[in-house]
Amino acid sequence: MGQVEIVLNSLPMSGGDGPDSYSKNSHLQRRSASLLRETIDKLIMEKIDARTLISCTNTFHIADLGCATGPNTFFLVEDIIKSVDTSLQSNSTKPDFLVFFNDLPSNDFNTLFTSLPPDRSYFAVGVPGSFYSRILPQSSVHIVLTVGATHWLSSVPKEVLDKSSKAWNKGKVHYSNASEEVVKAYEEQFGRDMERFLEARAKEIVSGGLLVVGMCGIPLGMPFSNLADSIIIMYNSMADVLIQMQSQGLISEEQVDTFNVPIYSASPEEVAVLVEKNGCFTVEFMELMDPTAWLKRPMDVEDVRQWIVCIKATMGSLFINHFGDHLLDDIFDRLTTKLVGLTEKVESSYREKVMLFFALKRK
Ligand SMILES: C[S@@+](CC[C@H](N)C(=O)[O-])C[C@H]1O[C@@H](n2cnc3c(N)ncnc32)[C@H](O)[C@@H]1O
Repeated sequence: MGQVEIVLNSLPMSGGDGPDSYSKNSHLQRRSASLLRETIDKLIMEKIDARTLISCTNTFHIADLGCATGPNTFFLVEDIIKSVDTSLQSNSTKPDFLVFFNDLPSNDFNTLFTSLPPDRSYFAVGVPGSFYSRILPQSSVHIVLTVGATHWLSSVPKEVLDKSSKAWNKGKVHYSNASEEVVKAYEEQFGRDMERFLEARAKEIVSGGLLVVGMCGIPLGMPFSNLADSIIIMYNSMADVLIQMQSQGLISEEQVDTFNVPIYSASPEEVAVLVEKNGCFTVEFMELMDPTAWLKRPMDVEDVRQWIVCIKATMGSLFINHFGDHLLDDIFDRLTTKLVGLTEKVESSYREKVMLFFALKRK
């Protein structure tokens, strides 16, 4: 199977709750997401009229798209429920809350559901399917949230895998440091995907409802390779590790050349154009943030190790699908060694505003 199909069918975070699992290694994502909490609370208080939204059924519907296996999704959902509850304070009947947990069908929903907080104040529903298409009924949800998921493209752009194309991305794993054609192929893929994402959400979110998105971002016009961000050092190191393994005969040149990480960082302006084109939403909030603002001291070797453990839990399945299960630990051990050796460089490049946070209101 080519990588184009692999992404959609099996992109899951490491399942279960073992030492290498996403559920045990997603604290960095949680810390970054916690930077959004205050703004989400303010948006709920100021931008939506919760009482009118639930007037027919007295049930408030929330969806988390790309929820993975938990526990981050539970914290985010609980924060939203608290904010909605506060905004409804004087309402005599407390509403029921229904939460749709969405992810790709190959996600480990068993781990998600077995770890649902037993004392939760909401009903939980699993929604398997790609958020690049319709996953919920027409006008069925009041707040849709998605954190750390919409930078995953629906697939690796075809041109990047095509030897005869100018966008053939030989010897690289991403569009950072790649040719202009590769960058354009990723950019266009994101444009197509985000268009489909917004079209689907416009159908699913009720008028007056909110769509809140946290994803990888970048300032407008800044070439990815100019961004002094640790993630670039990581992609470049990944390519170095694969080329080293190729030279040792552990993987083939073909395998290296056809491996690409389908992650795209969007600028606020790029998203604003797509929102305008869609026409169904108003932009209520749009900002680039530093996802590491919570880290109050310089990053050390142990932080770098922890960071790679989180990356392994997040991207491991891409490597397993492409290179096989047996090479996963070797690849990540080499990557850890390489990046630990670059700790100072990683630290000095760690404070960029590379998390894009935006909130849209359905007209
Ligand atoms: C890094 S995890 C983030 C999980 C969670 N939101 C958090 O903050 O911890 C990204 C999740 O998005 C999911 N995802 C990626 N593309 C998706 C798509 N097209 N449809 C649904 N889920 C998707 C992945 O399977 C993964 O579980």
